[in-house]
Amino acid sequence: MMKCSYLVSVVFHVAAGCALSADNLTEITRHRGDSVLLPCSCSHLNTKPQKFTWETGRTGHWTEVLNDEHYSGRLQLFNKTSPANLSLLISDLRVEDQGNYRCSTGSQEYRDISLYVNGCELVKKTEVEDVTVFTGESVVLPCVCTDIQDRPQDLKWQFYRNNHAQEIYPKQTEHHRNRVKLVSNNSPGNLSLLISDLTEEDQGDYTCSVQADSRDFRLSVKGRRETSTHWRNTETKPPSEQPQSKTTQSPPASSSTTLQHGKERKM
Ligand SMILES: *[C@@H]1O[C@H](CO)[C@@H](O)[C@H](O)[C@H]1NC(C)=O
Ligand SMILES: *[C@@H]1O[C@H](CO)[C@@H](O)[C@H](O)[C@H]1NC(C)=O
Ligand SMILES: *[C@@H]1O[C@H](CO)[C@@H](O)[C@H](O)[C@H]1NC(C)=O
Ligand SMILES: *[C@@H]1O[C@H](CO)[C@@H](O)[C@H](O)[C@H]1NC(C)=O
Repeated sequence: MMKCSYLVSVVFHVAAGCALSADNLTEITRHRGDSVLLPCSCSHLNTKPQKFTWETGRTGHWTEVLNDEHYSGRLQLFNKTSPANLSLLISDLRVEDQGNYRCSTGSQEYRDISLYVNGCELVKKTEVEDVTVFTGESVVLPCVCTDIQDRPQDLKWQFYRNNHAQEIYPKQTEHHRNRVKLVSNNSPGNLSLLISDLTEEDQGDYTCSVQADSRDFRLSVKGRRETSTHWRNTETKPPSEQPQSKTTQSPPASSSTTLQHGKERKM
């Protein structure tokens, strides 16, 4: 009898032990190579769980984190010094670490965190770059990861004009269809976009984005370039014989820009 009631009280005490604190931080973004602290703790610091686990859904199904070789040498717990602190520190993040993480003290008691690991940090990402081009020509809008071997996720090029945002790469839409492509073949971190056969309609703002990073361009498209090549080529090619140098081409009336400025264009 004595033994039995003792067991009951122990079970009650443990069940009342650790109530996970209501942490509403559910999304964390880091770059490859960074460390991240996935927070999880008992709401009362003098309590501790009977047991707890960290699981991840990064591979498509839930797996244990703490004994997974994938994280070998990169994990740190803090429950030794503070038993109510169940947080997990993952260092030297890899792109493959991205996914959902679950701290649980039982099937009903858990907290989920979405971890995003950005594989690409874009070079020069704050200022808007002005680019001026001429109709009929092509342009390369430069966009590269600081590490050219990085393989970014969620690359997207967008075009903004008159408050209208439109994806143009990888999904090619409207008048950009079949006129845009990435220029680099061997460097996964080179996201530069080639736009060919430029027209007045291509004038506007362009954004290259990978997860949390983005880079902006403002493209001005002018009427045909006044070719000055005849200064070099007078001997062999008089200007009148050059198809590109037609002077009848007057600059279009709408050459004044109607670009949308400011951040409100991104909605
Ligand atoms: C977390 O939730 C509490 C209560 O619902 C709320 O007051 C607080 O603003 C939230 N914090 C964040 C960062 O969302
Ligand atoms: C800390 O948590 C781990 C994982 O649940 C567990 O194996 C370990 O025994 C705990 N350490 C202490 C000191 O409680
Ligand atoms: C848990 O420990 C980590 C590392 O010392 C600390 O940064 C974090 O704030 C602690 N969390 C709580 C709830 O005390
Ligand atoms: C990216 O590719 C373009 C086109 O091949 C090239 O001009 C540019 O130099 C490359 N950028 C880097 C950083 O390698």
